[in-house]
Amino acid sequence: MKDQIRSISEEALKEASAVPADKDAVDALRIKYLGRKGIITELFKQMGSVPAEVRPEVGGLINTLKESVTRALDEKSALISTCLEEGEAVDVTLPGIPGRIGRIHPITKTINEINSLFISLGFRVLEGPEIETEHYNFEALNIPLEHPSRDAFDTFYVSFEKKALLRSHTSPVQARFMEKNKPPFAIVVPGRVFRPDATDASHSFMFHQVEGLVVGEGIKFSDLKGTLAAFAQAMFGAKARMRFRPSFFPFTEPSAEVDISCIVCSGKSREKRCSMCGGKGWLEIMGAGMVNPKVFEAVGYDPEKVTGFAFGMGVERIAILKYGITDIRLFFENDVRFLRQF
Ligand code: DAH
Repeated sequence: MKDQIRSISEEALKEASAVPADKDAVDALRIKYLGRKGIITELFKQMGSVPAEVRPEVGGLINTLKESVTRALDEKSALISTCLEEGEAVDVTLPGIPGRIGRIHPITKTINEINSLFISLGFRVLEGPEIETEHYNFEALNIPLEHPSRDAFDTFYVSFEKKALLRSHTSPVQARFMEKNKPPFAIVVPGRVFRPDATDASHSFMFHQVEGLVVGEGIKFSDLKGTLAAFAQAMFGAKARMRFRPSFFPFTEPSAEVDISCIVCSGKSREKRCSMCGGKGWLEIMGAGMVNPKVFEAVGYDPEKVTGFAFGMGVERIAILKYGITDIRLFFENDVRFLRQF
């Protein structure tokens, strides 16, 4: 019986390798060997008459035979699916299926645009650490412990012992930069900031700001106004108007909140309640002011000699206005249907 198995094996493998890659031919061969009345199936049926001592060995041989014939026929079948039918042809000149190309995230795009506008005005772009110390996030900016204004800049602590926290604004980079550099200079600092706000359509615990700082001899409030007006027009178009509202920040004196005219209604729909500005006609985009002398003193500058202006803008706010987006969460959900539009 062993000889019989060996000769069937030789014959079957020869036939399997010679059979054309044709479905009917391969199927016929499969039936011939492995079908219900196939040659190999018949061998299994004869097992009952094999003497018990050699039964395990003979059984093993038949199993091996079955496996190798099955594998040879499967390989042939796999070839069939990749072959063309007779008369078929592949048109290699047809356009391919294009791969999906990624794109720049709208927040990155907005930051890049803000950066290049300020670069064209002579500013330098730099970044600072996202994990800050209490000193730079608060004290160096004249936000003392126990002062109520500290609440507005509440944040996440990374370590109470080390007084390490996630910065709640980009303003700490002002002090870091001034400690190491001498005026005159003009810098912008884009980056992530963090606040423990509950998430909704207009709040996120993480968002982006761009800080600006210009220091030198004879820098005036009119320089601040001119710079920001140039920025607003370049960013939102020549028709955009800007207004300053008196405000308070511990690190500037005087301080202002800067609004631009609503890009949807231009302030013309006061009664109709515009969806963007709620009918106010103005949208707040940043805080600004003249650098508080106390901030200069903290970094060793002489406030009698130098003056400066600073501003901090919300990047999501600007992107929302520029692209007419209704919900800040869209920026961070990674939904490609949203992201593909930019
Ligand atoms: N750091 C402020 C905030 O996060 C924004 C700001 C206001 C920055 C006035 C400034 C400034 O540099 O002068 O709300």
